[in-house]
Amino acid sequence: MPRARAALDASFTTAPVPRRLFGSFVEHMGRCVYTGIYEPDHATADADGLRSDVLDLVREVGPTIVRYPGGNFVSGYDWEDGVGPVADRPRRIDRAWRTVETNAFGLDEFSRWADKAGTETMYAVNLGTHGLQEACDVLEYANHPGGTKFSDLRRSHGREQPYGIEWWCLGNEMDGPWQTGHKTALEYARLAGETARAMRQVDPSVKLVACGSSSRAMPTFGEWERVVLEECYDDVELISAHAYYEESETTPLADFLASAVDMDLFIGSVAATADAVGAKKKSAKKIGISFDEWNVWNQTAWNTSERAAGRTEWDVAPRVIEDEYSVTDAVVVGTLLNSLLRHGDRVLVGCQAQLVNVIGLLRSEPGGAAWKQPIALPFQEMRNRALGATILDVRTTSTTYETGRYGAVDLVDVTAVTHDDGRVTAFVANRSLDEAADVDVALGGFGPLVPGEALVLAATDGQDRWATNTADAPDAVRLRPLSGVTVEAPERPGAAAVARFQLPPLSWAVVELVPAS
Ligand code: AHR
Repeated sequence: MPRARAALDASFTTAPVPRRLFGSFVEHMGRCVYTGIYEPDHATADADGLRSDVLDLVREVGPTIVRYPGGNFVSGYDWEDGVGPVADRPRRIDRAWRTVETNAFGLDEFSRWADKAGTETMYAVNLGTHGLQEACDVLEYANHPGGTKFSDLRRSHGREQPYGIEWWCLGNEMDGPWQTGHKTALEYARLAGETARAMRQVDPSVKLVACGSSSRAMPTFGEWERVVLEECYDDVELISAHAYYEESETTPLADFLASAVDMDLFIGSVAATADAVGAKKKSAKKIGISFDEWNVWNQTAWNTSERAAGRTEWDVAPRVIEDEYSVTDAVVVGTLLNSLLRHGDRVLVGCQAQLVNVIGLLRSEPGGAAWKQPIALPFQEMRNRALGATILDVRTTSTTYETGRYGAVDLVDVTAVTHDDGRVTAFVANRSLDEAADVDVALGGFGPLVPGEALVLAATDGQDRWATNTADAPDAVRLRPLSGVTVEAPERPGAAAVARFQLPPLSWAVVELVPAS
């Protein structure tokens, strides 16, 4: 049976959990916006045309920040098309996804949605077909109080107060040859730096994110970050990272289950590159990471699709990459969340991609039901239990298994946080497909702890690893109580207490330990 021992100590902490680690992403793509968050004809639509059933689920899942409006879409987007009287807004070709954008939804509608969802906006500017001036214009529209062309335009559209959007992305995936307006690292770096400086002249309070790499597999990975940061180090707060993982012919299940190892390496490499640039510049500043697109995504299916080949009609809000997620995917997403959390001293923003329908946490049917996909469960659970806490520096020794891509990988993955009230919460995954794992968590330096709530996500009751949720069975995959958690008192004064539990095969769990009495 696999075994793991994780050592935690109250005095070994990494950083406060960054509030924005639990973000998501809404792109004008497929049915994320149209019939996702916005569907004026839906039975639950509110006065703004927003689906209340979807809003309710969004509030439950609780993304703390949502990146908008793209994605590849933004690199051909004119934000001015999406503001003002809806009847006057143009329909446009969206080259990125071969669709027709009606522009019925834009910045003002999104801001109303974000307010109702209780989330913060992270706005991406178009540095593909547009540039510095348009970036400053949309910033002026969003954040300038009034008395100027674009701030008064906003006010004429019924929004008197500025939106005060703090976080801005300088383009999207500009390292990718698929991106409209793709650039070399130096071309992008010059544009991003100039745009950042101009945007700060408009609003010095903004926080800016430069484009990093679209994946760790990009041929320019590393060099891209170096060149961009050499140019923009003083002008940006964060550099982005994007990563999607799938089980495929080239990524067997063993490797897919170890996707978080790639994420760990990705974060470590970007941090090292940023620090090397900082060292050369003799700078005291640390560049953070915005992991602003991440998820499981069956990219093979997309890459071989008729739409990707440009053989579909130009249509409005079609079904695009509506991946249906399984228990297996949810366990991988749990481990990706573990990776982000353990790097919370460096990853200050995380945006799961995307929120609804398009590789979505949530699904919604036009005129029909809305429900949570299994991947929403670890997201919601970690978000609710880690926010406001402090990350612990966890040292784990685990039984390993062999992967083709990453060599020997721990079967058991552990992260943990500690709360001001003395609680300790561990997030633990078992990557073994067929064996339960015995886990010991040594608790050094905490007061006396006893088992609190423990929940596990795993295939159960005749389900297989492909089990999913549907409109008819929205809770088929759910977190269930994990029984059998014990805490053994220290063997001798000064030794650590030990929490013990067993994780079922292919599972992700949250285990709370609460102060005794
Ligand atoms: O999230 C789907 C797409 O993936 C985004 O538009 C793009 O940025 C990434 O390649």
